[in-house]
Amino acid sequence: MKTRITELFGIEHPIIQGGMHYVGYAQLAAAVSNAGGLGIITALTQKTPDDLSNEIARCREMTDKPFGVNVTFLPTLNPPDYPAIFKAIIEGGVKVVETAGNNPSEYLPLLKENGIKVIHKCTAVRHALKAQSIGCDAVSVDGFECGGHPGEDDIPNMILLPRAADELDIPFVSSGGQADARSLVASLAMGAEGMNMGTRFIATQEAPVHENVKQAIVAASELDTRLVMRPLRNTERVMTNVAVERLLEKERALGSDLKFADIAEEVAGVYPRIMIDGEMDAGAWSCGMVAGLIHDIPTCQELITRIMAEAEQIISSRLAGMQSATG
Ligand SMILES: Cc1cc2nc3c(=O)[nH]c(=O)nc-3n(C[C@H](O)[C@H](O)[C@H](O)COP(=O)(O)O)c2cc1C
Repeated sequence: MKTRITELFGIEHPIIQGGMHYVGYAQLAAAVSNAGGLGIITALTQKTPDDLSNEIARCREMTDKPFGVNVTFLPTLNPPDYPAIFKAIIEGGVKVVETAGNNPSEYLPLLKENGIKVIHKCTAVRHALKAQSIGCDAVSVDGFECGGHPGEDDIPNMILLPRAADELDIPFVSSGGQADARSLVASLAMGAEGMNMGTRFIATQEAPVHENVKQAIVAASELDTRLVMRPLRNTERVMTNVAVERLLEKERALGSDLKFADIAEEVAGVYPRIMIDGEMDAGAWSCGMVAGLIHDIPTCQELITRIMAEAEQIISSRLAGMQSATG
C-alpha cells in the first residue's frame, strides 16, 4: 500500500510501532521494520546516550530497513540529557524521530540539517497544527482511547481524526485504539495515511517483555483500563490492577491536595518490575482500551501481513461490494 506516510519514511506498509517505555528495544523495532512497518526504539528506556548508541547499532545488525527513535519530553525538573540523546541518534544514522510530550522546536533545526524526518505525537488538533507550523514532517494523532498519555481533552479518534484531516496539510497517522485491518481502513477513511500501534505490538512474539504482560493484554477486555494522575494534569491510561485501584483510592481521598509524592509508590520506577520481572501488581503501566481487541500473540510479520491482507479484502471486497449494490 502506498500513502504519503510510506513514501515519507520509505516503508512498505503504513504501520508504525509507537515508542514504548521498557518495550521499544532493538529486537521489537527490528521485527516491525523487517515486516515492512516502521519500528521505533524508545530513547529514554536506555540508561545513557551511549547505551542508546549501542541499541541503535544492535537494531541495525538486525534490520537493513528504516527504523526510528522515540524521544519523549518529560515534565520533570531534572530532564534527561537531550542534546546527547540527539547526538547519539544523528551519529547512529537514524533517519526518523518520533517526538512526544512537548513541542520539539528546539531540536528541529538540528534534525532537519541531518536529514531526519520528524513525526510528532499529539493529542489535540491545536498541537498538531503547532507541530505543522514549526516544520514537523508528520504527526501521530493520539485519541482518548490510547494507552499512555491521552492529554486532558478526552476526544476519541472518531472525532479527532476527521478534525485533524480538516485542518492539517502534513500527513498524519491515527494512534490509539488501532489493532487490526478494520482500524487501518477506518483510519484511512477518516483522512489518516496510516496507523500507529502501541498496545497491540506488546502482545507479539518479539516484544521483549515478560510473558505475564502479554497474557494480561490478551486476557483484558476494553473495560480494564483506568485513567490515573488526572488531578496532576498528567493523565495516563493504564491497565487496572491492585496498585492502580489503590492509587485511585488515594486520588479520591486527597482530591485537589494530591501531590506526586502521594502516588510515587504506584508509578515511580515500576516499569522494570512489570516489563522485565512480570510482577503484574507492581504499579501502573500504560495500556490502551484496544486490549479488548487483542486475542493472540503473533509474530510482527504475521500481524502486519494479516492486517494488510485483511485491509485489501475490506477495501476491494466488502466496501467495493457495497458500492456496486447501491449502484
Ligand atoms: C507500555 C506503554 C509504554 C509507552 N511509553 C511511551 C513512551 O515512553 N513515549 C511515548 O511517546 N509514548 C509511549 N506510549 C504510547 C505509544 O507510543 C502509543 O502512542 C500508544 O500506545 C497508542 O495507543 P494504543 O496503545 O491504543 O495503540 C506507551 C504506550 C504503552 C502501552
